Amino acid sequence: MRLLDILQMNVSYERCVGCELITSDGRRILDFNSGYCVHNAGHNHPGIKAALRAELDGDGPAMLQSNVSDLAGELAARLCERAGGGLTKVFFGSSGSEGVETVIKFARAHTGRAAMLSAEGGFHGLTCGALSLMSDRFWKDGFGPLLPDVELVTFGDLDQLSARLASRRFAALVIEPIQVEGGLRIPSRDYLQQARELCRRYGTLFVLDEVQTAFYRTGPFLAAHHFGVEPDMVVLAKALSGGLIPVGAVLMSDAICNSVYSSFRRAIVHTSTYSENALAMRAGLASLDALESERLGERAARLGDYFRSRLSERLSGFEMIRDVRGVGMLAGIEFQAPKRLRLRVPFQAFARIHPAMFGQVLVMRLFRDHGMLTQICGNNFMVLKVAPPLIVSEAQLDEFVAAIGAIVELLHGGGGFWSEALGLARRVIGSI
Ligand SMILES: Cc1ncc(COP(=O)(O)O)c(C=O)c1O
Repeated sequence: MRLLDILQMNVSYERCVGCELITSDGRRILDFNSGYCVHNAGHNHPGIKAALRAELDGDGPAMLQSNVSDLAGELAARLCERAGGGLTKVFFGSSGSEGVETVIKFARAHTGRAAMLSAEGGFHGLTCGALSLMSDRFWKDGFGPLLPDVELVTFGDLDQLSARLASRRFAALVIEPIQVEGGLRIPSRDYLQQARELCRRYGTLFVLDEVQTAFYRTGPFLAAHHFGVEPDMVVLAKALSGGLIPVGAVLMSDAICNSVYSSFRRAIVHTSTYSENALAMRAGLASLDALESERLGERAARLGDYFRSRLSERLSGFEMIRDVRGVGMLAGIEFQAPKRLRLRVPFQAFARIHPAMFGQVLVMRLFRDHGMLTQICGNNFMVLKVAPPLIVSEAQLDEFVAAIGAIVELLHGGGGFWSEALGLARRVIGSI
């Protein structure tokens, strides 16, 4: 709460529909964060709400844990069919981190190996197992010891990956196909394809964490489909929920599933109370219906290209803009330290107070002055992430381009932007 106060973003939201968030004092905010890629179908989608209401009104078996849930079967079949490859079984949970924990256990059971491999800069969740797969000390400090036997490789470095995998010690390689919180880092097609092959060669499961990238965010159902790779397991969450009922899923092969539930004795060896609850399953089915009937993947691909070309056009030539990149409706604007002394001095002063301060001032100004909700990447504070609901209109994207253009101009003009930032710095120091 204090952080939101300092950023002047502690507002009370009253009504959220589509891309628009209306505050209790009547302001309209456009959501360009989507709850970190949850609201792909838009806030409070009417179809998803209606499906949930009907489910409640049906008085069906919401939570028995002693039955075979038809709804879970239906949702699992649809997810596996969309994902393709050899993915035929699904374990449902309630979050992305729970999915990553599931992957760790299932990969160990399947391979008989204990060690896990992941990539530096990734984000996999904040439970102890998932946190162990992350490199950034910011998230880990004070919570150790975490899982032993976890190693990290440089994202994109095949030689390093090959050398580690050759030890044949690793149960799984867990990576995001596009590192989202790492700063919208998009690997080459060759990297992911060869990583897949190396895993196969050395008996390591190739696991994709698609918690932010799935559900048509990048165009196709999975970002994996961009790169032509077939993972052994995929972790899904966020947008599967329609933004209304928590749900996560791990997709896997029959063989991996059978290694865990290998006998009557082990039939319930991995479960979770809310795993297949009817509202979560219904939310998943209705979200897929909404995303697919409105062809939001195609829309994300088409409007995403339009958006990035408009952004690049507007932001080119500014010395603090390093790159505009992304796939589908997932974009990153990367900033860099200025060269001109007049800008470099205040920039470095703020970086010394807190490395995220510069990015937070951008987020604050976008929110306060232009009514745009965004965030900087959790593991790369110099990248502003832009991920609106996939139903965003061309006019709303144009509004964003105008807003960030105005801020970037202000930033390069010196004066106003930096004195504002100084005010923020004072508030941070005053609150410590
Ligand atoms: C790529 C990725 N994996 C896993 C997680 C963890 O998901 P959750 O917060 O639902 O536990 C996140 C959360 O942001 C994520 O971005």
